[in-house]
Amino acid sequence: MSVTVRVPAKVNVQLAVGGARPDGFHDLANVFLAVGLYDEVTATPADELRITCEGPDAGQVPLDRTNLAARAAIALAERHGLAPDVHLHIAKDIPVAGGMAGGSADAAGALLACDTLWGTNTSRDELLEICAELGSDVPFSLVGGAALGTGRGERLRALEVGGTFHWVFAVADGGLSTPAVYGEFDRLSEGVRVPEPVASQELLDALAKGDAAALAAAVSNDLQPAALSLFPSLTGTLDAGRAAGALAALVSGSGPTTAFLTRDAGGAQAVAQALLASGTCRTARVAPSPAPGATVL
Ligand code: C5P
Repeated sequence: MSVTVRVPAKVNVQLAVGGARPDGFHDLANVFLAVGLYDEVTATPADELRITCEGPDAGQVPLDRTNLAARAAIALAERHGLAPDVHLHIAKDIPVAGGMAGGSADAAGALLACDTLWGTNTSRDELLEICAELGSDVPFSLVGGAALGTGRGERLRALEVGGTFHWVFAVADGGLSTPAVYGEFDRLSEGVRVPEPVASQELLDALAKGDAAALAAAVSNDLQPAALSLFPSLTGTLDAGRAAGALAALVSGSGPTTAFLTRDAGGAQAVAQALLASGTCRTARVAPSPAPGATVL
């Protein structure tokens, strides 16, 4: 018997970052939107914990116990006094190290797949608690839709979304390490008073209305200057998407994937074609939002 769980990627339509905390994390006002690019995690009983991965970026995925999906299985097994003897197979479609929470998606997927396979019936609250221990973005990968994340991003409030938003994601050649981008944020803000992060009411209203033009006017990412500083060629990708008619262009999370909000599905196809033709990215993917969270197939 096997259990397969489908889990979405995310884009941050607002990522407001506060100053570094004593624990090294940053307080955030993080507006997550789940998008229709998915990984699938399949859990099958096995003699010992084993990870395999397929997909165009599979070579970049660690297959040992440092993989967040492996850590999720171990954390769940420990809670229930079980051995984490499971084969986790990841069918990977979310860009790796791209700022789209692909590793977090795999962790949330592995958690739900193992809980279902083992019949451990862990409560939603307890699953969310384990998610938060695994990483700041993992709780959102479990719930999907749209949510405001505060604290280090792990405390979630679900948000209303009044329509479908159409995105293009330009996948860069190479990845960025999230801690390195936060480190660069700290370096760039040295000597500057970093304000408390707060969610933008205009942005929340635009999401609730399903108004793409209003959302485009309100998106922001405080990590963008740091990501561009470490990966300067992303400026060319952002410019190419804007020139192709995107309503908004921004770095997705800590990057280096860039995100383009478009008017409709046709607009997304046109922007994707133009980005591919521009030669400023490795590939371009279209995806609608919002998307459901981790789902057992
Ligand atoms: O929580 P997660 O493991 O995804 O975080 C990865 C790294 O990103 C952290 O070690 C920290 O350097 C940085 N981070 C941060 N503030 C946050 C979330 C992540 O500084 N709110």
